[in-house]
Formats: sequence, C-alpha cells, structure tokens
Amino acid sequence: MFLPQLLDKAHSGQRLVALTCYDASMARLMASCGIDILLVGDSLGMTIQGHDSTLPVSLADMVYHTRAVAKGAAGQAFILADLNFGSYQSAPKQAFVSAAQLMAAGANMVKLEGGALFVETVRFLTRRGIPVCAHLGLLPQSVNTTGYRMQAKAETAAQQLLDDALALQEAGASLLVLEAIPAELAARVTQTLSIPTIGIGAGVHCGGQVLVINDLLGLTPTPPRFAQNFLHGQGSLEAALRAYAEAVRRGQFPGPEHSR
Ligand code: KIV
Repeated sequence: MFLPQLLDKAHSGQRLVALTCYDASMARLMASCGIDILLVGDSLGMTIQGHDSTLPVSLADMVYHTRAVAKGAAGQAFILADLNFGSYQSAPKQAFVSAAQLMAAGANMVKLEGGALFVETVRFLTRRGIPVCAHLGLLPQSVNTTGYRMQAKAETAAQQLLDDALALQEAGASLLVLEAIPAELAARVTQTLSIPTIGIGAGVHCGGQVLVINDLLGLTPTPPRFAQNFLHGQGSLEAALRAYAEAVRRGQFPGPEHSR
C-alpha cells in the first residue's frame, strides 16, 4: 500500500490501526485482519533479540526484518520501518543512505525519533521521495537521558512538543507517532496538525493507535500500563488482531485507564 491510500483512509475519518510486526507470517495475518500499518519497530531489539533497549539494533537487522514483513504483507498493508539508533542522527545524508536501504527492502515510509533537531533531515528525505513518520514524546532511543517515563507533562515541555510537531509537519513529515504523553496534549497536537497522529500511551484522541504486538499478545512480563492483552478471552491470534482493530476503529481502545 502506498502513502496516498493510507492518507485517504485517515482523511475519510477512519482511525488508523497499527501494530509492530517483525516477520512474514505475522505480516500476512495482520494484513488479512485489516491492520493498516505494520511497523517494523526497532522494539525488535527487545522483543526479538532480548536486549533491554532498542540501542543495539543495527541497520542490517532493520533491513532483514523489513524485507521479511514486506514479503509477507505482499502490498496489502502499509510498511513503516524504523531508522535505528546511529543510522540517521549525524547528518541528513547519512539518514538518506540508511533510509534508502529500508525503502529498497520494502518499506513504504521510515520513522525517526526527535524534534527540531531533525527538521532538516525530514526535509532532505521527503524531497528525495522518502516519506517520513516523525516520533515525539517518549523516545526509546534516548532512554539513557530520559528513562522510560511519561514526557511533556509541564506546560513548557508541552508547548515545545507542539512547536516541534508543527516544524516536522512543515518539513514534510506525513505521520506523527506520539508516545507516552498526556492525553490532553495528544488531543491538542492532533487538532492542530493536518497530518494524522498515531498514539501509544497518548490517549484516544489521536488519528490512530499503535501497539507492540508482544504487549497485545500478553507476552511482555511487565506490560506498560497503556497496553492491553487482546488475546485474553479470544480463541485465536486472528480473533485477537481483529478485536484490536475493531476496538481502535470504534474509539474503544485506548480507554481512560490506559492514559493520563
Ligand atoms: O519500535 C517501536 O515499537 C516503536 C513503537 C513504540 C511506536 O517505535
């Protein structure tokens, strides 16, 4: 699926349903269950590789998993691939060389973490035919400075996040992931921007939602409070994926208990 089709869905008022996906079998199933966006997240460093952060993930790892997911989805879902830590931070040209490998592996868009510092990188990529999803709020690649905790709780930080979001949109970002921020701030950003926001731990008022598949399946020993086990009470993996997609589209997930 290409970006215009995805944006048509969002602009027609549909909430976008996203899940992390790391392999071909799961990609095939997710696509058949109507998951719009398969995020080849660098969370694979934790879920697949067993690290305690996303930092050890290499570009070769991201290319390998993106290729597998794209083959499995066979054009029936939108493939979003993370630029891993160290593959884009030093210069726009470095980001282009890395992103080009992910696009060649089958990604339809790349995602990078950060605000104003990456505006020129977003402009550089989008002007060269690489769609970009920005990511603000909790940035897992910055865990060594922030820890895994909710971001932008104070008004100055909230205003900074809103300014960053506007600058990234102006530079050409087509989607924005908002992770672990107060629900009211996510609502404010969503209302202010014209591009869709995709929330995770950011309340129900985003243009879509994303979850880590392992959290959805109850595989995470200590799941984040914004996650929900959708396999619980369902008879199959397929039923769990469909339940998640329906809950997101109907605005039933996340509920107030999943956000602040
Ligand atoms: O890598 C990932 O799984 C992500 C989500 C947390 C949005 O970036």
